[in-house]
Amino acid sequence: MTLDWKEYESTARQAVAEGLVLLKNENSALPVEKGAKVALFGRMQAHYYKSGTGSGGMVNVPKVWGILDALKLEDITLNETLLQAYEKFEEANPVAADNGFGNGSWSQEEMPVSDELVEKAASDSDIAIAIIARTAGEEQDNVDKPGAYRLSDTEADMLRKVRSAFSRMVVVLNVGAVMDMNVIDEVGPDAILYAWQGGEVGGLGTADVIMGRTSPCGHLADSIVKDIAKASAAGGFGDLDRNFYIEDVYVGYRYYRTFDRDAVAYPFGYGLTFTTFGITDPALTVNGSLTKDAAKDAAFILSAKVKNTGDFKAKEVVQVYVSAPQGSLGQPVLKLAGFAKSEALAPGETESVSIDINAYTIASYDDSGVTGFKNAYVLEAGKYKFYVGENSEDVTLAGEFEIPETAVIEQLLAQMVPASGFDRVRPKEAKATDKAGLPEYEKCTEAVPIAPLKDAEEAKADRPECKPYTGDQGIKLSDVRSGKADMEDFLAQLSDEDLSAIIRGEGMGSPKVTVGTAAAFGGVSPALKDFGIPCGCCSDGPSGMRLDSGARAFSLPNGTLLACTWNTELNEKLYAYLGQEMSYNGVDFLLGPGMNIHRHPLNGRNFEYFSEDPLLTGRMAAAQLRGMHKSGVSGTLKHFCGNNQETHRHTEENVISERALREIYLKGFEIAVREGAADSIMSTYGPVNGIWTSCRHDLLTNILRREWGFKGLVMTDWWTNLGDVGKPIAKNTFSRIVLSQNDFYAVCPDASVNSVNDDTLTALESGVITRGQLIRSARNICNVLMTTNAMRKLVGEKQEVEIINRPDAEEMTDPFEVQYYKIEDGTVIDLSGVDTKPGTTFALGFDIEKRGCYYIELVGGSDLSEFAQIPVAVFYQSVPGGTFTFRGTNGGWMTVERKIAMAARYGVMKLKFMGNRLKLKEMRFTYEKEVDADKIWTDYQDYIIG
Ligand code: BGC
Repeated sequence: MTLDWKEYESTARQAVAEGLVLLKNENSALPVEKGAKVALFGRMQAHYYKSGTGSGGMVNVPKVWGILDALKLEDITLNETLLQAYEKFEEANPVAADNGFGNGSWSQEEMPVSDELVEKAASDSDIAIAIIARTAGEEQDNVDKPGAYRLSDTEADMLRKVRSAFSRMVVVLNVGAVMDMNVIDEVGPDAILYAWQGGEVGGLGTADVIMGRTSPCGHLADSIVKDIAKASAAGGFGDLDRNFYIEDVYVGYRYYRTFDRDAVAYPFGYGLTFTTFGITDPALTVNGSLTKDAAKDAAFILSAKVKNTGDFKAKEVVQVYVSAPQGSLGQPVLKLAGFAKSEALAPGETESVSIDINAYTIASYDDSGVTGFKNAYVLEAGKYKFYVGENSEDVTLAGEFEIPETAVIEQLLAQMVPASGFDRVRPKEAKATDKAGLPEYEKCTEAVPIAPLKDAEEAKADRPECKPYTGDQGIKLSDVRSGKADMEDFLAQLSDEDLSAIIRGEGMGSPKVTVGTAAAFGGVSPALKDFGIPCGCCSDGPSGMRLDSGARAFSLPNGTLLACTWNTELNEKLYAYLGQEMSYNGVDFLLGPGMNIHRHPLNGRNFEYFSEDPLLTGRMAAAQLRGMHKSGVSGTLKHFCGNNQETHRHTEENVISERALREIYLKGFEIAVREGAADSIMSTYGPVNGIWTSCRHDLLTNILRREWGFKGLVMTDWWTNLGDVGKPIAKNTFSRIVLSQNDFYAVCPDASVNSVNDDTLTALESGVITRGQLIRSARNICNVLMTTNAMRKLVGEKQEVEIINRPDAEEMTDPFEVQYYKIEDGTVIDLSGVDTKPGTTFALGFDIEKRGCYYIELVGGSDLSEFAQIPVAVFYQSVPGGTFTFRGTNGGWMTVERKIAMAARYGVMKLKFMGNRLKLKEMRFTYEKEVDADKIWTDYQDYIIG
């Protein structure tokens, strides 16, 4: 296999251009013509956010192409005075370092601009482009404050001054997710472009649109509200302990379309191009009978013609929405039922699109029995109307059909029913209609059906049989793979001890797989390895690989941007390239796609996820999986499910009706399992409806495997708590995940021994769990491992990947050549041979048997004078840990020291040399004290943490 880096970059660049959403374009503001004089405002022009922060953002890249970098390559003149003013500001106000997890700020201080500066720039320029940038991320939600969800006063002031001085003004938003638009709308730029976070080539893709090489054609994957207090989930987001999902299935546009159209500033699905389109001849074909018994097999085809009626080549997104009868369940006025993206159509060109929709996609789940069919997906009797449009607000009737009698589409069993009662919203009387004749409703509430928690008993009662223990019969996993032996005979050889090891993931930074990755699983002990079980390697995601060794990986556009492309083929193509890169690096599973629903605009990790809509979410994830599968690797859907808030994510409980779970929060996952053949899933940190998700048998066995037919493995989120709400929780009661069929715990420092005092063997001995249940997870793990490169490598079938067209200088750290050192009190690592040329990085692996806080002393020197400063940036597990600054020592040695809190068994430290003529001697370690892993992000601010 050959991975052509240039193709990879250009596909990502195309994805960026297709994901940008143009909200407004008046006064011919965009595109910018060649030769134009451009004044670039906003201090973040030089600091493009390629992604948000946390595990999803830690991709090592040699360079990020920001918007300024990209515009410098264009045939335009950038206002020099302004550039210099920003450079000067930069010197005095460098961008603050961000440690990545829960401690970053959402924006950087903006440069105040004077009237004179702006007016001077205006008199010398044709157009102003103002850049506003935001980050957000893991462990920390966004906040509705200036400088975060809102503009800061300095940013607002800058935009106002620019508006009054320039006759042509564009605002570009380099943000992970939607932000408040009030001030921007009030300022009234001529054009507004959501550029999102486009990964390492983000600036280049953005410039393609700004300069008009590509027409924007992205459409919002979320609604943007005028007032965040009116967001659909506003009443049930942000509580530190427990959030009730009172908006139920009315999430995002489903809510606004049904109850509050006026709340919306920019609707879901909205986005402009540089041309205009006509969607004509919409038609509906119904295949099959719609009677009570036959409707479940009915299929619908929506067809329409798309014509480019303007004068610029562009792509159009055709969105199909269904409006179901209110019936007794109550329904959102519109639900996305399908979509298609056209090819790039030349002016005057027409394309026919046809979108297949089945009955299940448009059915609703009755969790109360009000339709007469409890726990069933139904199509209630009445008229179903299909609409087509370019967004959720502006739709035209395409056709309708009638269901004569309520039809059961799929009868299921009650699962995950909340035990705590609360009221959810539903429509009451219609109060107004829009131009398409669609109503808007008064809101009322109804009680959510509840049921006592019985999941623990059901999990215990689910006791699969297994063959009795045989001991080693000489069967290897490769024999099962080649059909020579039976899986059950293979598994019967594993001792209880082996089974207790196979459900332990190892990491982070396990040396058993590619250095600096998140987990190794499977053949983690010598005995398991002897049975020919390889170690699978998982690396974060979702927007490129996180390799804490410092190895170079490609940073892809973020989830929001990719969803806004509405282009499944492009997502598939891009992730096929990522798959090849994973294969090159020995990574079997990406920890992504991230696919939680954008339930509330302030969720810190929205940038990683796709959309407020489950169909769009599921289709994007399925496409990305198909791409990775093409390249022989796979992805891990995360976080399953209901992980919709970062604040207190380890303990905060989400209380959700069964209907909302099935129609919204599980639906994307279901689509990715059914349409994307998912084989790996990560459960969440927090509990849903009374139980931590990793311990829910109904979720991980009944719904996932029995209903959806999932054949893969489930892993926990990293170091998650396990247990039930209101009872003591622990991280080592692995018996709970064995019962639920959450196949391995991620992660233990050393999986070959019981390093976290897990209860697996004692629970087995006391009969709390059975050998059959352990075998069940071992089977899931082995079945998946047989399809991996790790296995192919073992049996000599792995196709090596060659990377071509990647500049040599980009080969940062060789992923396979990091040396590990045992760290203990008194360890000294000789660094005398290290190449310290500026720009070079050096990575070293730590194996820390006695975890804790250590002093590290780095000894080095330089023949420069004592006034010289030679900084060395330090990253631990890819998290920036500040700088060691050496001074010139006239040839002698000096020692710089820091404290480091090492809570994990393995770690990778990367040193990046940034000054001339440094010579290193050694690194010394002195044990200071114990470390509390649970408080690592809060109580160790004075330490380098990892
Ligand atoms: C995140 C996951 C991530 C894992 C490994 C967790 O904190 O929630 O999304 O994959 O860490 O880095």
